[in-house]
Amino acid sequence: MARLKILYATSECFPYAKAGGLGDVAGALPVALAERGHDVRVVMPRYATTKKFDATPLAGSLGIPFGPMTAWARILRANLGEDRGVQAPVYFIEHDRLYDRGGIYNDSHGDFGDNLERFAMLSRGAIELCRYLGFEPDVIHVHDWPTCLLPVYLDTVEAWTPIARAATVLTIHNMGYQGWFPRADFPKSGMPWDSGAVSSLEMHGQLNLLKAGIMHSTMVSTVSPRYAAEIQTKDGGEGLDGLLRARGNDVVGVLNGIDESTWNPEVDRHIAANYSAHDLGGKAECKAALQRELGLEQNPHVPLLGVVSRLVGQKGIDVVADALGRLLELGTQIVILGSGDSHLESQFQALSHQSRSFRAWIGMNEGLAHRIEAGSDLFLMPSRYEPCGLNQMYSQRYGTLPVVRAVGGLDDTVENGETGFKFDDLTADALVATVAWAVEIYRHDPHRFHSMRVRSMQKQMGWSTAAKQYDALYRLAIRRRRG
Ligand code: ADP
Ligand code: GLC
Repeated sequence: MARLKILYATSECFPYAKAGGLGDVAGALPVALAERGHDVRVVMPRYATTKKFDATPLAGSLGIPFGPMTAWARILRANLGEDRGVQAPVYFIEHDRLYDRGGIYNDSHGDFGDNLERFAMLSRGAIELCRYLGFEPDVIHVHDWPTCLLPVYLDTVEAWTPIARAATVLTIHNMGYQGWFPRADFPKSGMPWDSGAVSSLEMHGQLNLLKAGIMHSTMVSTVSPRYAAEIQTKDGGEGLDGLLRARGNDVVGVLNGIDESTWNPEVDRHIAANYSAHDLGGKAECKAALQRELGLEQNPHVPLLGVVSRLVGQKGIDVVADALGRLLELGTQIVILGSGDSHLESQFQALSHQSRSFRAWIGMNEGLAHRIEAGSDLFLMPSRYEPCGLNQMYSQRYGTLPVVRAVGGLDDTVENGETGFKFDDLTADALVATVAWAVEIYRHDPHRFHSMRVRSMQKQMGWSTAAKQYDALYRLAIRRRRG
């Protein structure tokens, strides 16, 4: 089949910048697409944290039209996928006034006040970059609200340029973040009031970037089949369910994969010992090392429960907080790695100092995230909603059985009683009862627990399945855009 030219525009991409799962996806899917033979180019901002990575500057500067002005940016290039024998070039847009600061979307004071301008520049810059490179994409893949203006530009201010032939695919990773801005800020999108775009962006007297992205993208996808259905209901649609239902024929769910060169206990360099489904010996060492690292009693028989999460409402960590006392009474040890809600952060920190069997680590810590996946016996994800979720799949890959609420991608990826444990109600009671069930099997039916671990570890979770589905989705989008 013909090789496609794909532009992949994103606000996050591991290892260069990551706030959550979007970063992991953008660091892996382009490589899987390149492995299928496609010409994939990634474009993202050059944040302060991105500057620690080697990158080669391209000649000259890129002039990005922005309202009546032109903004100048330097472009640098790095490559993803070299360890797998392919090349997916990553182009960084360097514009220090907008990007050279700690944080991708926010800092300790909250969301950056110039986010509309920051991400408008990314979308417009991505188009300009294609012209600079002489690259005419067949399809442009955008992700979440930060790159939602790109399909809008193609239908308005860029409508008569060759790049407007490109089909666009918007992947929604999270309906909870839509990119709301005051209506008066419209000129910061870089488009004139008479461009025709304001009506697409308008919602309840404000601007909503995700809404405009849904309207203007050729196809819309989200990151699991169940979430694709949920967002078309009132409960899951966050106010955009009507629009998504109206576009129902163009909305699909493609389940995320996991990057098995990064999240794989056989080769993971962050963990105390490597292990596999055939020889789980190293996992006991990882557990002992984690208990040591956290100052927990080093006891192989105590079930160790892990959490790695943004501490936000979506993740249901408040339910873990409510259940914590009762979970510890089951004779468990618990470790939470996360950051977010300051109330939860301080609550966990205080308890961490008092308790013998509970530890909290507040902040981002990539290495510890891997050590928790490897060293724990169970992993908790009681999410209110979960578009896909990667950590439950990482847990399965590491033989750490996930205990999850049966929503979104969690429901699609965990087989109850086989590769994890599921519950329905978002209550401390339901969480405690399900953990009690899991702990019962851990203690009294070690054979079953072991075979559940092995089955989880042997699941096919790499990116090749999703890449194949995106391939078909891109071709469908191209046909629809051209036809
Ligand atoms: P979401 O994108 O909603 O946060 P996912 O499960 O898709 O949820 O992905 C979360 C990613 O972010 C995982 O790679 C996880 O390990 C990582 N992560 C979340 N919090 C932390 C943290 N405090 N330290 C290190 N990694 C974290
Ligand atoms: C979002 C979702 C998460 C998903 C990730 C990657 O952040 O909250 O469920 O796994 O994006 O698609």
